[in-house]
Amino acid sequence: MAHTLVNLLPEPLPPAGRPRTLRARWRRALAAAGLLVLAMLVSSAPALAAEPAVGMDSCTTCHNQLPANSKMAGRHADFAGSVHDRAGVRCNACHGGDPAAAVADKAHKGVLPASDARSRVHFKAIPETCGGCHTAQKRAFLTSHHYQKLETTGKGPNCVTCHGSMATRVLAPDQVREFCITCHNPRLGVLPEKPYEAATTLTLLRQTAVLVKWAEEFAAATPEPQRAAAHAEVERAVTEMAMARGAWHTFNLEQVRSHADAATQSAIASRKPQLPGSPGGR
Ligand code: HEC
Ligand code: HEC
Ligand code: HEC
Ligand code: HEC
Ligand code: HEC
Repeated sequence: MAHTLVNLLPEPLPPAGRPRTLRARWRRALAAAGLLVLAMLVSSAPALAAEPAVGMDSCTTCHNQLPANSKMAGRHADFAGSVHDRAGVRCNACHGGDPAAAVADKAHKGVLPASDARSRVHFKAIPETCGGCHTAQKRAFLTSHHYQKLETTGKGPNCVTCHGSMATRVLAPDQVREFCITCHNPRLGVLPEKPYEAATTLTLLRQTAVLVKWAEEFAAATPEPQRAAAHAEVERAVTEMAMARGAWHTFNLEQVRSHADAATQSAIASRKPQLPGSPGGR
């Protein structure tokens, strides 16, 4: 296989500590709010189909018992406790194979090494494999320049380049900068300003999410007759926020910021009817 930038990258970073509570609260606030974007949110949540991990899972059972110093065992240790592990996503969801078969040969039917172009975890196949569940992220990613580069030259990042394959992480803004620099730097000459722009954009995205959540809480507590107007603005803010988040995986950072800015405007406008001396509504 030709050398790719992907292969030149350093070992995956350890899983990021991330503000899960923010996400959880953001979801809860949305649920309480009014559900305009329920459909969008649902479409960005992983579409975990049937077959939850009940019954036989020979992959985990056997790999768990492989000698601790072997390469394979290390892979399992990476996975254990990851977001996928906790959500019940099993090895075969990404690798294929038959988790009901106890013998390795049978269980490995269809499981191919990542270096094999027919493997579900070959770097070019990864967007499809991950995107089977993360449909919204896949849809956005397929429109990106990164995806084109991945398909044509192999020199674009895929889902795993950024998230890690097994100990799936989500990068925080300062980590994003460090990470994007692995390809976007003056030495390689690939758009070296992007890491800084990405870090700023991601920070803006996260701050806007907090602002929109506050706006929702204020709107809910706004007395009638102003409440309806506040709610309408908040719904606009929530929609724009969802669009900003959805645009992230296109890596059109300008578009992410412009939706985030629109969300901020609406979140601020939703507070206007409440401000003392304000003429009420806009
Ligand atoms: C009975 C033990 C056993 C079972 C069951 C088993 N494996 Fe393995 N697996 C191994 C061993 C040992 C290796 C090391 C390479 C080899 O001998 O094939 C391995 C290798 C692998 C590899 C690396 C392939 C490569 O060639 O680079 C993957 C991926 C993998 N297993 C996934 C799975 C999945 C997915 C399942 C369940 C569907 C599974 N394994 C079930 C023992 C097992
Ligand atoms: C969320 C998807 C996902 C899950 C779940 C997952 N893996 Fe992987 N795994 C990958 C990807 C993608 C790669 C290849 C990319 C890379 O080189 O890191 C990989 C690489 C591997 C490798 C290295 C061999 C090779 O072909 O390069 C082994 C071994 C492995 N996985 C075993 C497992 C086992 C065992 C489980 C369950 C305990 C598991 N994986 C669960 C996505 C997954
Ligand atoms: C079988 C379905 C399935 C597959 C395949 C799958 N995932 Fe997931 N993924 C999930 C579920 C379920 C969760 C946990 C639910 C959640 O927190 O959003 C999750 C969580 C995540 C998260 C963390 C999201 C968060 O908000 O914390 C990332 C990142 C992620 N997956 C990336 C990947 C990547 C990269 C691949 C491919 C290597 C992949 N997933 C393959 C179902 C899947
Ligand atoms: C160039 C790096 C990069 C690539 C490539 C990438 N992501 Fe992400 N992804 C991120 C960053 C950074 C975040 C965090 C965004 C945030 O905090 O809102 C993220 C967030 C996520 C999340 C959490 C939910 C969300 O949308 O915020 C999931 C799930 C996810 N990505 C899956 C994927 C999948 C599937 C692919 C491949 C189709 C992929 N990502 C490709 C960088 C990347
Ligand atoms: C594996 C290498 C790699 C990594 C990692 C990577 N990129 Fe890229 N990126 C590329 C390549 C290659 C291009 C195409 C450059 C060109 O066409 O000259 C590109 C282009 C871009 C573009 C321009 C897209 C457009 O539509 O014009 C943006 C924005 C971008 N990357 C953002 C990021 C961000 C943000 C990160 C980190 C989360 C990141 N990249 C990580 C390789 C990478």
